[in-house]
Amino acid sequence: MKTLLILESTCDETAAALVTEQLEVRAAVVASQEKLHERYGGVVPEIAARAHVERILPVIDETLRRANMKLGDVAGIAVANTPGLAGSLLVGLAAAKALCLALGVPLVAVNHLHAHIYACRLAAGKEVFPCLGLIVSGGHTSLYRCASALEFELLGGTIDDAAGEAFDKIGSLLGLPFPGGPAIQRAAERGNAAAYALPRPMIDSEGFEFSFSGLKTAVRYKIAPPGTTVDAPLDAQVVADLAASFQEAVVDCLVAKSLLAVRRTGLKVLCVGGGVAANARLRQRLGEESTKRGIELHIPPLQLCTDNAVMGAIAWERLAAGLTETLDLDVYPGLVRGK
Ligand code: KG4
Ligand code: ZN
Repeated sequence: MKTLLILESTCDETAAALVTEQLEVRAAVVASQEKLHERYGGVVPEIAARAHVERILPVIDETLRRANMKLGDVAGIAVANTPGLAGSLLVGLAAAKALCLALGVPLVAVNHLHAHIYACRLAAGKEVFPCLGLIVSGGHTSLYRCASALEFELLGGTIDDAAGEAFDKIGSLLGLPFPGGPAIQRAAERGNAAAYALPRPMIDSEGFEFSFSGLKTAVRYKIAPPGTTVDAPLDAQVVADLAASFQEAVVDCLVAKSLLAVRRTGLKVLCVGGGVAANARLRQRLGEESTKRGIELHIPPLQLCTDNAVMGAIAWERLAAGLTETLDLDVYPGLVRGK
């Protein structure tokens, strides 16, 4: 059975997976760097790149060991080369190129955001295209019209912070551990989402833009009015109420724009990917709204929402279409416009 070795090192997770042409996962490993970045309250690019260098070969070895396979057994190497942190992307790409050269197997490029949507295809175990794709991660908040696994058209995205970034920044403002997303979700369980009136930026705009930086400032001012500083640790109930109110505001914006996209495009399949798709309240709200409107909703299980290499199995679609790369393939840290 043909198997691809897939590498993922776009941000702060070093991951590898072995996935067959029938999309069966033979093995998958994710080495997280959360502990390294925790004290900075965000991912430090240089630390991330250095950690990838240390981890990439052990992660590949461990993946092969778990699948009881050798490098010589793989039919090709796939690697995420866009978007992400330049130094991080380079580590995965350099490893992938070296393996292709040594093994004489094809190199396949993976767009990390497209892969997040493809996680829905993998989890569903059936075709999900054409669909609408909502990507909510630490670096991106975007809506795509996905005609097929190879045709992604960007409809719109955030004009400032990404949803995950907002979760992380508010988490650190509230004194919660990094990453902020899961910590806010936990705190919100004990909070009242109606306790604080927070804005829903751009929720009524005509387009598919999102904006979360004003929301961040609004939370900041609820903690301490403009011109004042936060000197005492916040009361636990205040933290819980702010977390719940903030989470609800973000979820409202994401749900509203997804429904707008459904109305505008006529697409009735919604695929959601990225770390924030792990959020229980977002999953619940999207579930309720989709049921009401007859939308087929796909949100992968948690381990396929946050960064992983398995979702890079979208590479099989590229390989089938003859889309392989030469060894001068580069990294594209920013999003290639319209893609
Ligand atoms: O997709 P991902 O693992 O990495 C990027 O490609 O950015 O997303 C990471 C983001 C972080 O900002 C993290 O706080 C957020 O996903 N996240 C969550 C939850 N779990 C992870 N946000 C809200 N609720 C969660 N349960
Ligand atoms: Zn991601």
